[in-house]
Amino acid sequence: MSTLHLIDHPLVQHKLTLMRRKEASTNSFRRMLGELSTLMAYEITRDMPLSDIEIETPLETMTGKVIDGKKLVLVSILRAGNGFLDGMLNVVPGARIGHIGLYRDPETLKPVEYYFKMPENMSERDAIVVDPMLATGNSAVAAVQQLKDKCNPKSIKFMCLLAAPEGVKTLQAAHPDVDIYTAAVDRELNEHGYILPGLGDAGDRIFGTK
Ligand code: URA
Repeated sequence: MSTLHLIDHPLVQHKLTLMRRKEASTNSFRRMLGELSTLMAYEITRDMPLSDIEIETPLETMTGKVIDGKKLVLVSILRAGNGFLDGMLNVVPGARIGHIGLYRDPETLKPVEYYFKMPENMSERDAIVVDPMLATGNSAVAAVQQLKDKCNPKSIKFMCLLAAPEGVKTLQAAHPDVDIYTAAVDRELNEHGYILPGLGDAGDRIFGTK
């Protein structure tokens, strides 16, 4: 079974509470999401491999450690996943970006892919799939499945802001190899698939579409 990582750093929890408030403007919601994604990226990259590099300080030669940001790919589930990207790129500016677009078929209620674009050499890359809300888990499961089927990255992690217990269970059952990183696990889903207490529709709040 995969591990659920709860990022409970006080700065993350404080900003998340401000974002949940219905009074938060589009501007402040977006700004706080940017700040939160930087902080969460710091946690999710904690186990990134380092390699040795020989450098010259002003005084002598030494062996330092560097990470290869270019081997990392951030995979955004459209459209709300895009809200995570700029903040994460603050800490891993060399990361490549992939996009997966999915919509829910009104008849079957199953996720259908309408867009899939990844960088080259995916089998050499560690992927972080990002979507602010892990609600039913259906989109996350489908996105990870497409990623595995089409380009099989070296590793996959999933990062969200909020998760519902149902979504965590579904994703862990379908992809036990994918660790989940979240700032909170909320109480439940309502009958429309919204997380309670949640923060509403993340896409609408990021893009100001409602
Ligand atoms: N997607 C959202 O944007 N919000 C939810 O609460 C659930 C899914």
